[in-house]
Amino acid sequence: MKITPILNTLSATFFIITLSACGSNSDQSSELDNQLSEIISTHNLNSHPQRDLPNINDALPQLGKKLFFTKALGGDFDSACVTCHHPVLGGGDDLSLSVGVSSNDDDLLGLGRIHMNGTTESLPSVPRNAPTVFNLGLWDSTLFHDSRVESLNVVAGANGASGDIRTPDSTFDQADNNAGRNLAAAQARFPVTSADEMRGFTFESGENNQSVRDHLAARIGNYGEGVADGIGANSWLVEFQTAFGGATAAEDLITYDRIAHALAEYERSMVFTDHPWQQYLDGNKDAISDSAKKGAQLFFTKPKDGGAGCVACHTGQLFTDEKHHTVAYPQIGVGKGNGTNGTDDFGRMRETGEENDKYAFRTASLLNIAVTGPYSHAGSMPTLTSVVRHYVNQTQSINDFVANQNDMGVCNLPQFEDMSDCATLYPNAEANSKAALAKLKAEQLAGNSLVPKNLALSDDQVDHIVAFLEALTDPCVTDRECLAPWIPNAQDSADNHQLNAKDKNGLAL
Ligand code: HEC
Ligand code: HEC
Repeated sequence: MKITPILNTLSATFFIITLSACGSNSDQSSELDNQLSEIISTHNLNSHPQRDLPNINDALPQLGKKLFFTKALGGDFDSACVTCHHPVLGGGDDLSLSVGVSSNDDDLLGLGRIHMNGTTESLPSVPRNAPTVFNLGLWDSTLFHDSRVESLNVVAGANGASGDIRTPDSTFDQADNNAGRNLAAAQARFPVTSADEMRGFTFESGENNQSVRDHLAARIGNYGEGVADGIGANSWLVEFQTAFGGATAAEDLITYDRIAHALAEYERSMVFTDHPWQQYLDGNKDAISDSAKKGAQLFFTKPKDGGAGCVACHTGQLFTDEKHHTVAYPQIGVGKGNGTNGTDDFGRMRETGEENDKYAFRTASLLNIAVTGPYSHAGSMPTLTSVVRHYVNQTQSINDFVANQNDMGVCNLPQFEDMSDCATLYPNAEANSKAALAKLKAEQLAGNSLVPKNLALSDDQVDHIVAFLEALTDPCVTDRECLAPWIPNAQDSADNHQLNAKDKNGLAL
């Protein structure tokens, strides 16, 4: 190896400074590094499947970006994909429960976006938390919290492109022949059909999903039944011709299948995996703090050996087994119409019909977790510390959540904390959360849960795990300039309906 003299001097100086500044700390650090290197090889943490994902500068993702940001895909022109999935908001919306159509201000995203019932402020009508669209191309089995979009031939690295895909348009376990080429494209067919998210309550009301899609494609292409919608001045035809090639006419070129394909390629271009822990795996021992290293040890070590056992479910590059488990985070919100009070959410059981799957949800990815809160399928956990504490003692966590609503629970969630009646917003939260907890307890008693009953973790250890979780966040996702390629400029819009997002203070996102 050739080392130039100048480098040699520099590293020698650095070495002395580190030694004198940290003393025994660096011994402890290298001890930690040794222990971690064993964990890394045992769990094979550095091998990931090869993936062929698009670049944001390619033509299809560029078209997808514009489609993702246009309110013209919302039935009443008041909601776009980006409404709940903005790059600056971690690829989500910063809310516990999403607000789509009928908001106080179409272009206001994040905290301060409020669902309106006429002129009265009301609670969100979307029942679940919006997951991030970052790293969408890394999922191989499932999308949605209950995996209602799902690959029927899972191949590692394929993002579902390896065979049939089941969607809500087909019955459980059966292929949807129109699903498209991968999980992302299959998923992109559904938000536009959801009344609360994008469709609204009058557009194609009572018609099937395909009628909604065909109508929206005709609106974007300004042909047939779409002409009456009056999209106004736009450049969609040229944009589609550029992305898909050829001088085809709008009627033939602009279909919803192609819209979904372009949206998916935009989402799949959002690869944000260069986090400090990855840099550590790549050999930079200084990429993460000692606290994060201790957290990593706990994360990958079984509870019976003194660890926290997180890796039992959070595995692989995406930190998820893409399977379903009952973890029993508090249930809030309007729910999915389940249970005697109609505000419960039975999760995976809604798809499989199996009692075993009641309250089971898909294991969340932990990539970029520092920016994707609030957490859980209902957004009921405000911080990473609250999530880790839930694993330490689930009964305590649920009791704390429902006990004194004024300090905890719903009043602790940024979306609701300023409401004077936050303590009584969701009167069924207690019953629904305790029902999920009871299911978890029964599984634990029967010995078929991977969630440890209680973890004997000190406060410091909880902090270490949180430090490790934070180290799974790619610095790009906290840097507006780094995210700029995924956000269209106001002057580049393809129509007059681009959502140029602002926060509650009116500042551009
Ligand atoms: C009103 C808010 C809202 C809008 C608008 C919206 N979404 Fe979502 N999105 C959600 C919520 C909530 C979920 C979770 C739903 C569930 O799992 O039941 C979700 C789930 C997803 C997922 C699954 C991610 C995963 O990890 O499984 C993707 C991908 C996605 N949305 C993309 C889109 C696209 C593309 C559009 C536009 C066509 C869109 N969304 C519009 C709120 C929204
Ligand atoms: C039994 C499997 C299992 C184990 C063990 C487990 N998790 Fe989870 N984790 C899940 C599931 C399932 C979810 C999603 C639950 C939901 O959406 O309601 C989740 C959600 C999370 C979330 C929230 C992610 C989000 O975006 O909402 C975090 C953070 C998390 N887990 C961290 C951990 C840590 C840290 C540990 C170890 C202390 C751990 N998990 C152990 C299955 C597990």
